[in-house]
Amino acid sequence: MSQIANVYCVPEEHLDEYTHLASCSPAIISEFIRGYLTSITKKGINEEKGREIIFDALYQTADLLKEFGFRVIDDVCTKGGISRVGVNFVSENFPIERLSDELLGRMKSVKLEWSGKYELNNQNILDIINENGTPLYVYEENEIKRNFELIIDSIPYENKQVHYAVMCNSNSEVLRKILQLGGFVQINSIHELDLVKKVGFSNGDISFTSTGLDSESLERLVQEGVQVNLDSVEEVEKYCKLNAGGNFGIRIKMKEDIELPEGYTNSPKDSDVGIPQDYFSRVKQIAQDYGCRINEIHGYLASNILDSEPLIHSSNYLMECAKQFPDLEYVNFGSGFGVPGRKTESKFDFAGIGEYYSRLTKELSDHLGRDVKLKIEPGRSVVATAGTLYAKVTNVKQLTGKKQISINAGFGEFPRPRIYGAYHEIEAVGKTGETETYDIRGNTVLQSDFLGKERKLPQVQEGDILAIRNTGAYGIVMASGFPGKELPSEVMVYSDGTFKRILDWAESESLARSSRYE
Ligand SMILES: Cc1ncc(COP(=O)(O)O)c(C=O)c1O
Repeated sequence: MSQIANVYCVPEEHLDEYTHLASCSPAIISEFIRGYLTSITKKGINEEKGREIIFDALYQTADLLKEFGFRVIDDVCTKGGISRVGVNFVSENFPIERLSDELLGRMKSVKLEWSGKYELNNQNILDIINENGTPLYVYEENEIKRNFELIIDSIPYENKQVHYAVMCNSNSEVLRKILQLGGFVQINSIHELDLVKKVGFSNGDISFTSTGLDSESLERLVQEGVQVNLDSVEEVEKYCKLNAGGNFGIRIKMKEDIELPEGYTNSPKDSDVGIPQDYFSRVKQIAQDYGCRINEIHGYLASNILDSEPLIHSSNYLMECAKQFPDLEYVNFGSGFGVPGRKTESKFDFAGIGEYYSRLTKELSDHLGRDVKLKIEPGRSVVATAGTLYAKVTNVKQLTGKKQISINAGFGEFPRPRIYGAYHEIEAVGKTGETETYDIRGNTVLQSDFLGKERKLPQVQEGDILAIRNTGAYGIVMASGFPGKELPSEVMVYSDGTFKRILDWAESESLARSSRYE
């Protein structure tokens, strides 16, 4: 043992800290050296020579550190010199001093009651809350995996790509999981492009679908070679000018007469998103003028659809449009796959829709005489059920015939109930016994900051924890902290029962959204 490292006696309570110093540091230091070297070799120097020089410096630094400690930093940096610029750059841009929190957070055990299969139970969740406070979003890696696999396995067609819709939950840990599962991503901003690339997705894994793109964004997408679905004739014109001879996709405007049950958001009747069929000839003409190929057709009907019928209609319409584009490589059915708010509602029929989309894609491939790739872009159905927002009861108020619970999360932490009237199950963690009827609201000055009304819950009191279910999608990404509050933290619970806080807004120096992305 002592031939490869020294043996040390360390106090048991700090075993984790010492372990990561000993076992993770070679990789972390190497990653730093690798990045540093890459930044230099980009300037065209000989990589082999650069490597030799930096390795020499590494050996010498180790000796100097042993002998003189960290005063080496000041000794090497002359006043106003370039080394100081480098040291300042590193300390200002990389939160190195938070590294141990990252590593230790990941190593901490949730103390599972192991039953052969990991489940998050009330005791586990209270441990997590004790450590991280409330309001707190908790995501379960297992559930993301289960959902993702259910979706991908429901499509029998071989040549398929599941592009997770990043806007639903753009936390880097969620994205890393999607990457691990072999997923692709659908993004809708340049900011998301930078984010997914940072997480490790390559340009070929990305599909960009948005609206109102300016030339600068289009230029960046062209530079990166990212597949893009354009929303208007004007965008097509700008794109073709920038990328003559290139490929692009179009998002079609959905047929307006597809019936959606009342209450659905984003009905095609109220939407001008996408290119209407009457404009196809114009789009084709522009593409032809610039030697471009229209290689993808994309259709998105509406959000959170529980009954497959409207999606069958929209996919039929997509096919009718697709047959007008002979160069197609991809047919993109978008998403809209619903997640029931109530436990009593039936789940979305993925098997049925997967079969149907497969059949349509096969027919299109036969029609075109080559294999077209099937794409979908699920967001909500991948992450909604994986997330729960935990909030603390701050007061219980007696009203006529019912009681009102205030909690430390509301519109600013989870706006869906107030914006869309969305129903989310609410439970009192660890509480049983006789129930009472409660309205549940955020403890803010807003008059109608309700998360749920007339809910039956076991009797609760100040300090109890409420769980707002199915909040993994369109949760933290829509949170604003309004009025005047900090945003909730987020924790990922991994399949092995460990957990990690993936952001603490309260500790982050700035509330800029980008700081969520590590
Ligand atoms: C183009 C596009 N793709 C995917 C999604 C994700 O949809 P969902 O959350 O319904 O799965 C959306 C949501 O608005 C979208 O506009």
